[in-house]
This record gives sequence, structure tokens and C-alpha cells, in this order.
Amino acid sequence: MIRTTILAMACLISITALGQHAKQQRFSPGKIWEDTEGTHINAHGGGMLFHNGTYYWFGEHKTAGRGGNRANVGVRCYSSQDLYNWTNEGVALPVAAEGSGSDIEKGSVIERPKVIYNASTGKFVMWFHLELKGQGYNAARTGVAVSDRPEGPYTFLRSLRPNAGTWPVNFPEPWKSKEVTEADLEAWSPAWRKEVAEGLFIRRDFGTGQMSRDMGLFVDDDGKAYHIHSAEENLTLHISELTDDYLGFTGKWAVMEPAGHNEAPALFKKDGKYYMVTSGCTGWDPNAARSFVADHIMGPWKSLGNPAKGEGASITFDSQSTYVLPVQGKEDAFIFMADRWEPQNAIDGRYVWLPIEFNEGKPELKWHEEWSLDFFDQ
Ligand code: DGJ
Repeated sequence: MIRTTILAMACLISITALGQHAKQQRFSPGKIWEDTEGTHINAHGGGMLFHNGTYYWFGEHKTAGRGGNRANVGVRCYSSQDLYNWTNEGVALPVAAEGSGSDIEKGSVIERPKVIYNASTGKFVMWFHLELKGQGYNAARTGVAVSDRPEGPYTFLRSLRPNAGTWPVNFPEPWKSKEVTEADLEAWSPAWRKEVAEGLFIRRDFGTGQMSRDMGLFVDDDGKAYHIHSAEENLTLHISELTDDYLGFTGKWAVMEPAGHNEAPALFKKDGKYYMVTSGCTGWDPNAARSFVADHIMGPWKSLGNPAKGEGASITFDSQSTYVLPVQGKEDAFIFMADRWEPQNAIDGRYVWLPIEFNEGKPELKWHEEWSLDFFDQ
């Protein structure tokens, strides 16, 4: 009798405990999203890795207030089996101590971390946008770190500006030796835009490496990986092939949307075609998303316009893209992952996840107050 009573009480206690953080079964875009301990998920500008049956979500650990957009902690990792319920796996890449002089020292800017797995080396490779401490957004570098385990800890290897001394594959010969410089042109004039599109900044940065700000990674079916980044003062996207170990650049790269002013690139593949969702450049404020399609990753890319439809489409439902997640085990199921930034209190930034629909070959995004993965079975 006593044993039965104790058992019943234990059950009651655990049900009550479970009830506090009841399992989530739906996505609620823009709302507080609690992890399994009841804390709002802290993984902004995130990316996803699926490995051995588990999803790993990596993102910027933000802190409170405006200064919370700086890297005060590092890159955080969460894991999940079902995409709704996320376990905090801790800090995957910690910042280095203040005053250490490391590129990733506390107070630098670490944004949009993405992790991919290299099957031949067995290593997990993280790339991220890095701005050096005290230099605003001028450094425009990309950083790389590596780990033996998906959740880390990751070891920082180096940061760089990619593709020094190499020309894009889609860059006409005469543009390489043009002598036009920034000083010759009025910024933002039509003549300036034309020269930007014809390599003004590529030539300027040829020796030192190209700028790299907002970035994403993509691993193709043949195992080749690509680093996609906003370069040339955010005016043009660069798509760069990574070395076989994913730790460096091969020097093969292409320009995409020259002078098109794109940020927040998220690349995915469906039915042999490459798709990319991007945003315009308006700081932390949302703007209209853009979408593109290509038969080859290095282009040419064709614009498909704003994928968002309906009310809120002109500001992408108050969000900015960060990643497109192919849902495992479901055909043609892709989730648009985006951030609703809160620059005044960075830690309160929200996540906007929406299903991608396809209409006449174009990706479409519609607002859903709530939704679940069943959406893809309809
Ligand atoms: C927009 C970018 O997409 C973000 O990652 C961040 O760099 C902000 N700009 C900074 O203003």
C-alpha cells in the first residue's frame, strides 16, 4: 500500500514537472520559443545541421540591451529530434577572453554561424561572419572553427577575407584591368552602380581578399561545399567553393546579382535546381525578401521576385532570412528560417519559421500564426 502511494506521488510529481514545459507540437512564428528548460532559445542568425537523426541549431548567443548584438558569449547550439522541442547543448564556440587579442575576443561581432559535416575528415566545420572588436563592420571577415563533435566545443582556426588574388569565374577579361576607382565616381549615382556591377570593388579588394559579411553555407549532392557571402560593401553576393576539407577556399568563385544589394543569403536545392532567398540591406529593419533560381550553383541566377505573399509581405512578415531547412523524411519540405531582430534588446529577438510552398516553380512564403510539419502532408 505504502509502495503504491509513493509510486503514485512520484508519477504526479513528474507529470507536474513535465507540465511546466509541455512538449511543443507546433511552430508559433514570432512568439517566445522556450527550450526544454523553459528559456527562450538563444540562437539568432542561425543555421541547421542534421546528423545521425538529430537536428543541431547553431546561432548567435545574444545578450540583453543594444550591446547584446556583440559577441559576449559566442555561438550556442541546441539539439532536437522533432524540430519543435530544443535542448540547450551549451556554447559551441565560446568567445576568447577580453584583451586576449584573439580575432574572436569578447566584444567582437560573430554573426550567422553555420555548421557542415565533412564525411571524409569526420570533422564538423563552422563558418561565421566576423567583425573584429572595435572596428564596427569594417573588417568584413569570415571565420572558421572545427570540432570532432556536432555540439562542440569548436576550436577557432582563423579568419580571413576570401579569394585574394583570384578573379570570379564569371568576370569578363576587360574588367580586370579597368582603371576606374571609387574617387572617380559619385557614390550611388547610376555611373557608380554600373562600375560596381563591372567590378569596381572586386578590383579594389583583389590583393587583400574580398569582403565577407552576411553568409551561408551549402553542401551539394557531390559533397562540394560553398560559402555564400555579401561582399563588395554588401552590394554583390559571392559564391565561393570550399576546399575538400571545408576549411578553406579553392579560389573558384562567382559573383551573383552584381550591385543588387543583397544580404542574408539562404541557398537550397530542389529537383536539381538551386534556389536562394535573400533580403535587401536595411540594417536590423526588415525589408522585402528576394528569391532566385539557377541550374548551376555558380549561375547564371534568375530573379523570381519577392517570395512572400499577402499582408506583411513587403517586410517578410517582420523578419530576415537566415537558412532554409530541408525537413528530413519528407519530400520537398523546406522551412524558411528567419530572424525578427530586436536591436534594442537583442536577446529578445524572435524566430520566424514558415513552410515554403512552390507555385509554378517559384518559392512562396505565407504567414501562419501557428503550423506544424503536417502542413507538408496536405
Ligand atoms: C543585417 C544583417 O543581416 C545582420 O546579420 C546584421 O549584420 C545587421 N544587418 C547589422 O545591422
